[in-house]
Amino acid sequence: MTEPTLHDGGTLAIRARVLTYHAHPLLAGETASHRYWDDGLVVVRGGIVETVGNASELLPDLDPAMTVSDYRPHLLMAGFIDPHLHLPQTQVIGSYGTELMEWLSKYTFPEEVRYGDPAVSDAASRFLLHELLRNGTTTAVAFCTSHPQSATSFFAESDRLGLRMVGGKVMMDRNAPAALLDTPERGYDESKALIGRWHGNGRLSYAISPRFAPTSTEAQLEATGALAAEHPDLHIQTHLSENHGEIAFVAELFPWAEDYTAVYERYGLVRPKALYGHCIHLSPRERAALAEAGATAVFCPTSNLFLGSGLFDRDAALAAGLRTGIATDIGGGTSYSMLTTAAEGYKVLALRSQKLRGHAAFYMLTAGNAEAIGFEARIGQVAPGFEADFVILDTQATPAMRRRHERIETLEEELFVLMTMGDDRSVVATYAGGRKVHARGGSAGDLPSPLDQPISREALGNDMPSESAEGR
Ligand code: GUN
Ligand code: ZN
Repeated sequence: MTEPTLHDGGTLAIRARVLTYHAHPLLAGETASHRYWDDGLVVVRGGIVETVGNASELLPDLDPAMTVSDYRPHLLMAGFIDPHLHLPQTQVIGSYGTELMEWLSKYTFPEEVRYGDPAVSDAASRFLLHELLRNGTTTAVAFCTSHPQSATSFFAESDRLGLRMVGGKVMMDRNAPAALLDTPERGYDESKALIGRWHGNGRLSYAISPRFAPTSTEAQLEATGALAAEHPDLHIQTHLSENHGEIAFVAELFPWAEDYTAVYERYGLVRPKALYGHCIHLSPRERAALAEAGATAVFCPTSNLFLGSGLFDRDAALAAGLRTGIATDIGGGTSYSMLTTAAEGYKVLALRSQKLRGHAAFYMLTAGNAEAIGFEARIGQVAPGFEADFVILDTQATPAMRRRHERIETLEEELFVLMTMGDDRSVVATYAGGRKVHARGGSAGDLPSPLDQPISREALGNDMPSESAEGR
C-alpha cells in the first residue's frame, strides 16, 4: 500500500470497544439510543466507515492487506464536536475577575487586535487545532477575528490536517476598538470573498459570523441578512442572551425590538444551521421562535460558570423542541476538553435540578452536536457511510480513575465517571478521515512528519514519546 496523503482518506480497521449513538437518549430511551460492541471492529476505506460490528464476525472476511489497529480495552466513539469556540482566545483563557462585557473590552478585544498579523493567526490556528485533536475533538465551529487573515489561517491549517471544520471572520462595526471594526460593506465583501475561497473546499464550511447584536449597526445586520439570503445553506454563528448587562445593552441599542432574538429575526438570521451561543436568559417566546425556525442553542457550561453568566435551561429547550449543542466557548470557557465540558454541564444542570446521565452526555458530544450543526448525515456516528472521525478513550487513564473503576458495573456508570474524571489524559488516539492525527504520548500519528511544515514541540504540548496502542 502506498502511504496516504492528507487528502486521501485512510483505509484501515480498528478493533476496540465501540460505542455509537443514533438517537437522543432522553427522547428515544437509553437502550434505543446507541449501539455498543464489547469487541468491535470498524472497517474504514477511503476515510469513510465501511462496516462496523463484532470483531469475531468481521475479521475472517477482512481484506488481508488491511492494517488492524487494536485498542482494546479502550473505547472508540465518533470524534467529539465542539460547536462554539474562538480561535483568538487561546491566550485569553483564565483572565481574572470580570463578567462578559468588561471581559470583552478588558481582555478579549485587545488580544484580538493582534490577529491581523498572519504569524499570530497561523500560530494560533496550529495550536488550537492540535489542542482540539489532543482532546479528541475532530470538528469545531470557530469564530475567527474581524481580520480575514484569521479565517484564512484557520481554514488553511484545518485543510492541511484534513479536518471537517467550520469557521468565519467576525463582522463588527461598533462598540469595539477601531482596529477591530469593519464596515457593513467590508464585512460583507470580506465574508463573501472567504466563502468563495473556502466554503465547500475539502472538508471546510464557512459560517457567516456577526459577532453579536451589540457590536453591529443596523446597517451591518442588514448587509449580513443579505449575505445570509444569498447563501441559504451556510451556517450562521453569533451570541444571544448570555448576560443581563448584554441584554440591557441590546434593548438600548434596538429599542424597536420586543426582545433580543427579535433583532436577529428582523434581519433573517434565525434559520436552520444558525448557531446561537449561550441562550441562557431566553423568554418562552424567544425559545419558541428559535425552535420554529430550526435554529440551534449552544450551551457553554465552563464559560457560563467562569463568567458568571447564568444557568442554561436544558429542559426548557427540550420542551420547546429547540435543538441544543454543548460547546467549550474557548476562551470564555476554561477547558478544551469536551469531557470536562460535559462534566461542568452536569453541574450547571444539577443547579437547575436537571439531570445529565452518561449516555445523554456522550450523545451530545457526538451525534447530538452533529445534529445541532446540521452535519448529522456525515459525522457524529460510527456507522457505514459516515466520515471516519474517531476518538479512542481510556476510561482508566489515571490512578484515581483506575481505583474508581473497580466499583463500576455498567457502561452508563463507566461513561459518567469518564466524563466526570476524564480529560485529555483519557484520549489515547484521535482519527480524522480515517487517519491518525493524534496519539497519546507520541507523535501526530499518520501526519506526514508532522505535515509539510514543522509544528514545534511547544505548540504540540509536552507529551513524552512513549505509549502506542498500535500495531497488531
Ligand atoms: N459575546 C460576544 N463576543 C463574545 C465572546 O468572545 N465570548 C463570549 N463568551 N461571549 C461573547
Ligand atoms: Zn463565544
